[in-house]
Amino acid sequence: MSKANHVAIIMDGNGRWAQSRSRPRTYGHIQGARVAKKIITAAVERGLSHLTLFAFSTENWQRPKTEVSFLMRLLAHQIRREQKTLMTNNVRFSTIGDLSALPNFAKQVVVDATKLTEDNTGLRLIFALNYGGQQEILNAVKKVAAEVQRGALNPEELTQETFSSFLDTHAFPPPDLIIRTSGEKRISNFILWSSAYSEMYFVEKHWPDFTAYDFDLALADFTKRSRRFGKVLESIPPVAVAP
Ligand code: FPP
Repeated sequence: MSKANHVAIIMDGNGRWAQSRSRPRTYGHIQGARVAKKIITAAVERGLSHLTLFAFSTENWQRPKTEVSFLMRLLAHQIRREQKTLMTNNVRFSTIGDLSALPNFAKQVVVDATKLTEDNTGLRLIFALNYGGQQEILNAVKKVAAEVQRGALNPEELTQETFSSFLDTHAFPPPDLIIRTSGEKRISNFILWSSAYSEMYFVEKHWPDFTAYDFDLALADFTKRSRRFGKVLESIPPVAVAP
């Protein structure tokens, strides 16, 4: 029985949750942010080493301008407001994704929170912001190509290990468990490379209804999974024994 150390979450369903209550989608995001805070606290209390939250994808820019702008302000506001709590809980804040496209006020908040918490040694909280798994891999390919071009890397010697060192996610261990709410059963361009052997857990509830108890159920479910990483369990004979 092993414990999940790194949990990554696709916090899906804010919009549908709000719409089912005849409220604007933004109301769902506000509730979603409250739930995110509760789950971060739960992750600290449960002693997780890493928690990655998919807060804004590279595709989310295609939403109505008003929603994108609301999400940016909400994210910046939440991160700024929770800085003290991050410090009290010894949480180290980090991000994955391309911050350069974020509005300046949001970028500043992210830079400040990252700097402020950089010496904290507890939970590593990672916000995926303007993050896309394919974009991350493409960026790594471009960096590798540049290294090859300047003669610093021989393509024949490129290994999975070297390649992954060019990825944003390289700074963190692979997620043990990926949770997605709202009943959708897909990865949606979230962590692609390092999720190769992550366990998946899908919940029907929309993110604003997700609770610390639901989080515990996901963690408990993980402990029952048999992770073989493409190998076989030694207790199972590789070939059938002849009768
Ligand atoms: C998915 O719901 C949610 C997002 C795209 C944004 C996630 C943002 C939050 C939970 C709020 C801020 C979070 C933090 C951590 C401060 P959706 O809009 O795709 O819902 P839908 O699929 O029902 O349309």
